[in-house]
Amino acid sequence: MISDVVRSRAPGRVNLIGEHTDYNDGLALPMGLPFETTMDIERRNDQRVTIESAGFESLSFDVGDDPTTVPSWGRYVAGMIDRYHTHVGPSAGFDARFSTTIPVGASLSSSAAMEMAVGFGLHALNGTNPDPVSIAHWGQWVENNVLGIRSGIMDQLISATAVDGHASLVDFRTLESIPVVLPPEATVVIIDTLTRRELVESEYDRRRQACVDACEILGIDSLRDATLESVKRIDDANLRRRARHVVSENARVREFVAALDASDLAAAGAELRASHESLRDDYEVSGVALDRAVEAALEFGGCVGARMTGGGFAGCAVALVRTDDVEAFVEHMADAGGGPIPDNGPVCWPVTPSPGASAEAL
Ligand code: GLA
Repeated sequence: MISDVVRSRAPGRVNLIGEHTDYNDGLALPMGLPFETTMDIERRNDQRVTIESAGFESLSFDVGDDPTTVPSWGRYVAGMIDRYHTHVGPSAGFDARFSTTIPVGASLSSSAAMEMAVGFGLHALNGTNPDPVSIAHWGQWVENNVLGIRSGIMDQLISATAVDGHASLVDFRTLESIPVVLPPEATVVIIDTLTRRELVESEYDRRRQACVDACEILGIDSLRDATLESVKRIDDANLRRRARHVVSENARVREFVAALDASDLAAAGAELRASHESLRDDYEVSGVALDRAVEAALEFGGCVGARMTGGGFAGCAVALVRTDDVEAFVEHMADAGGGPIPDNGPVCWPVTPSPGASAEAL
């Protein structure tokens, strides 16, 4: 059914484990957050699109405009409209108002959430059936081709497909997800260091390139097919460490899920800690504030494990905390500000796994 007034929403995400594995056909365990981006859309009778959002400049363009010519944050919206045109059909023009509760630039996927809100919103406005995985592909296309960021598909995929009350064990080779329940004795806590990324896209690109180079040396198409034994054949020490991270991280995702299934929090925590060390030492994508946040979290007895989450360098860490100790943990973390973390930080949010994107006619 075609609708005149539509509201769509899409969550941010936190990745529990499996970092920098998505573009290596690997495994990860992200979940949807209770923080989300909402898009209120009203149909227009022409081809114009107007967008507004508190704290951002209001913009307008036409539905058929080349997204790379649209200014600033309008590119995300125009890019998704471009994909809708290419894969589904023409869209009506519309006025849209965005609002979000996802901290921007914190590695919690605020841009993926905006892309997914637009994709689901366009389907609802035009009365077509959304396929969440396709919309995730569109979002990745926008990042890669409109914004020039070579990111993988994890953020968009989980924002589009997250399951209420579950994390998702994603196999990026097939894009299949298995819902995973977290034991009630443990609570996920996001730790925002309040540091933000600057110019790290080039570092992200370098890591991606290192993975491509490692595959070439090993004669394989993806690091999913490498083993801890085979990566020893890589002579270049840097490249070897990068590949070792990806291989060991895939194994940690499996071990972590097995530990959750067995409600073995100690074992789950050990995997989180090992993931952080591998990201810090082998993949070199952590940062002083993230390292400090993880260190401070691990000083607390009821914290079973902690690690940086997302692309790295700045933003958020994630901790698994005994549910009975969450309040005391948040108090403990309040003393960790100063040094590499701004004095007013870090900010902690206990979170429950929340559902993926949706849209409804109003
Ligand atoms: C960013 C990217 C994702 C993924 C993570 C690291 O969030 O957008 O595709 O590569 O970094 O796991």
